[in-house]
Amino acid sequence: MTERPRLTVLGTGYLGMTHAACMASEGFEVLGFDIDAEKVARLNAGDVPIFEPGLEELVRDGMSSGRLRFTTSYAEAAEFGDVHFVCVGTPQRRDGHGADLSQVETCIDGLAPGLTRPCLIVGKSTVPAGTAAALAERVAARAPAGGAAELAWNPEFLREGHGVRDTLSPDRLVIGVTSARAEAVLRTVYAPQLEAGIPLFVTDLATAELAKVAANAFLATKISFINAVAEVCDAAGANVTVLADILGADARIGGAFLRPGLGFGGGCLPKDVRAFLARAAELGAGDALAFLREVDAINLGRRTGMVNLACEVAGGSISGKAVGVLGAAFKPGSDDVRDSPALDVAQILHGMGAEVTVYDPEALPNARKVCPELKYADSAVGAATGADVVLLLTDWPEFARLDPEELGTVTSARVIVDGRYMLDPAAWRAAGWVYRASGIPAPADVVVKQTS
Ligand code: UDX
Repeated sequence: MTERPRLTVLGTGYLGMTHAACMASEGFEVLGFDIDAEKVARLNAGDVPIFEPGLEELVRDGMSSGRLRFTTSYAEAAEFGDVHFVCVGTPQRRDGHGADLSQVETCIDGLAPGLTRPCLIVGKSTVPAGTAAALAERVAARAPAGGAAELAWNPEFLREGHGVRDTLSPDRLVIGVTSARAEAVLRTVYAPQLEAGIPLFVTDLATAELAKVAANAFLATKISFINAVAEVCDAAGANVTVLADILGADARIGGAFLRPGLGFGGGCLPKDVRAFLARAAELGAGDALAFLREVDAINLGRRTGMVNLACEVAGGSISGKAVGVLGAAFKPGSDDVRDSPALDVAQILHGMGAEVTVYDPEALPNARKVCPELKYADSAVGAATGADVVLLLTDWPEFARLDPEELGTVTSARVIVDGRYMLDPAAWRAAGWVYRASGIPAPADVVVKQTS
């Protein structure tokens, strides 16, 4: 293997594209691969199809330096690379809760026949424990290089919207390896991070695989915990945002991922929780993770709770009411609408007969594709115009700056449900708004006004 290995990155989604561009920015020669010819053509023309801060610049720099390019040819990738990063998707299976590994398997099967010299395949996709060991056998059986085409697992913890920073400077690096050679190669690839003092955990394959799903399950559990407590706050007349701050001030608990809201969504947390459960059950350890079923149920319950609250503030029925929805992305800083709680709520309300108009600063093109039946506006004020009820569903910072007076001049009624606790209830109520949020006490007179 060369001193400085040549890298391929298979799969150019959020993970792969970011990894490819970041590695090129560190001076590696990188060949990105995708089966989607249209995407590859766009990328080779310098057009980055996803919104990820700082990514477009890195892709452009990489391409103009000649260190980064893209292909649709497995043969070319196999010939080019000393290290092959597998970054394809592992979505939830259509017929169950487990992970659909078909993209990973297709990728390995496409690459392996071209692997004629020693190389390292490094899985980054999130997979159930045991997948890497099975894939290693698959590679050895199909690659002309046999066992010299080795396999390692190197889970990725990047958050969308922070992908470039999380890739260049992660909290930790985890590499699951079965040989000293594989470890040495990955130490070369991650030399800049190791020199910067980023901790490296060298593990077996299964521990590396589990590191990712266990981390995501823990984050999901924290979110569902505080969201469940929000419901208790409702019943007790307590304030969940103040409570979350109090809990977070305990260093043993920590405030991160303890923000109540509409729950988690996106391409990772929801499916990873379910796949973790499904794999544990296959391994005979399902009972140990039974609580994750509750975590998932609490999370989905937040969406139903929001729909119910919207109906309540609309006077009992949402049918025929105009609803302004602020937010479509699953979280701020992203244009991703996969399993987005915001879009889910918008869709349910539309299904109940509401006239829903959605605004999002970045995710409108994706939302339009997935939910063509909804109406869209190009500003928060646009979405709220004529609304009987306004719902704040994604915590984009610009929504915190909304002026209750200004917004109140365009809506039909001053009624807002704050699904992400971004607004100051006192300020909005002072401006004549009915302000509601789960786990925030509603003044008695407001409740009476709404139910009478
Ligand atoms: C997540 C993990 O953070 C990352 O390590 C993993 O690699 C992929 O999955 P991401 O999907 O980009 O990353 O989103 P993240 O920022 O983690 O947020 C997940 C969801 O939780 C979002 O829907 C967000 O709105 C929600 N969330 C987050 C809360 O509801 N409350 C919080 O306190 C934090």
